[in-house]
Amino acid sequence: MSNISIKTPEDIAGMRIAGRLGAEVLDYITPFVKPGVTTGELDRLCHEYMLNVQGTIPAPLNYCPPGYTPYPKAICTSVNDVICHGIPGDKVLKNGDVVNLDITVITKDGYHGDNSRMFFIGEPSILAKRLAEVTYECMWLGIAKVKPGAHLGDIGHVIQQHAEKAGYSVVREFCGHGIGTVFHEEPQVLHYGKPGTLEELKAGMIFTIEPMINAGRREIRAMPDGWTIKTKDRSLSAQWEHMILVTETGFEVLTTSAGTPPPPAIVAQLLAQADSVPA
Ligand code: MF3
Ligand code: CO
Ligand code: CO
Repeated sequence: MSNISIKTPEDIAGMRIAGRLGAEVLDYITPFVKPGVTTGELDRLCHEYMLNVQGTIPAPLNYCPPGYTPYPKAICTSVNDVICHGIPGDKVLKNGDVVNLDITVITKDGYHGDNSRMFFIGEPSILAKRLAEVTYECMWLGIAKVKPGAHLGDIGHVIQQHAEKAGYSVVREFCGHGIGTVFHEEPQVLHYGKPGTLEELKAGMIFTIEPMINAGRREIRAMPDGWTIKTKDRSLSAQWEHMILVTETGFEVLTTSAGTPPPPAIVAQLLAQADSVPA
């Protein structure tokens, strides 16, 4: 039995707004992501933009799932070997670093807009650039599978296949998730798996796809701050995240703004043939 909610037209309208606002925080912060800035300053700027310009609030602040301590900041800043949930602080970003900024806003109507992008500080290494590109392709290959009648396992499978073909590994402990007026709800969207398995997708479902891909081994290491997750082997890790609506004919990317990067070439070809709404 499925507990996955089917959103009402009113919910969908609210989630389109939340998604756009979440993406616009990433647009806003982009010019500040430069050598010399601290992750704490990026947090402060995003938080201020949400409160004072958008009239949204950051979902992470004081977020406290069972077994966790309250998350202390407005955004997540995951640098280099940090896989996810990096806590902003005094860390100064330097040339060659790679950072994921993960933003979730809550609108005045209570809807969540959750998305993340990778940023290079100055000139990235060839490895960092390729890892971020392959991870972006993984996310989009997963998105391109979304339509009524497809299964969650189809998404996980295509992501795992693409990551492993490149010699990378898929993090298992964290996954995409249903989202709406609740930050994390059913279903879990695994980034590995087998075609035709798990829940069948239906029009009106909304969930994130947010693969975490490691350059080395998939194992993780939890830091004593209770939140930060790193690669056990200290290899680089990358992540991208969009929020997706299942439509009658395919998908709609909800976390879309003026600065949203276009789909990668390998997926643009697929989409040109498919009956879907590209970003
Ligand atoms: N935005 C993250 C996600 O994609 C969740 C962050 S929870 C936090 O699901 F508390 F760490 F912010
Ligand atoms: Co997120
Ligand atoms: Co998410």
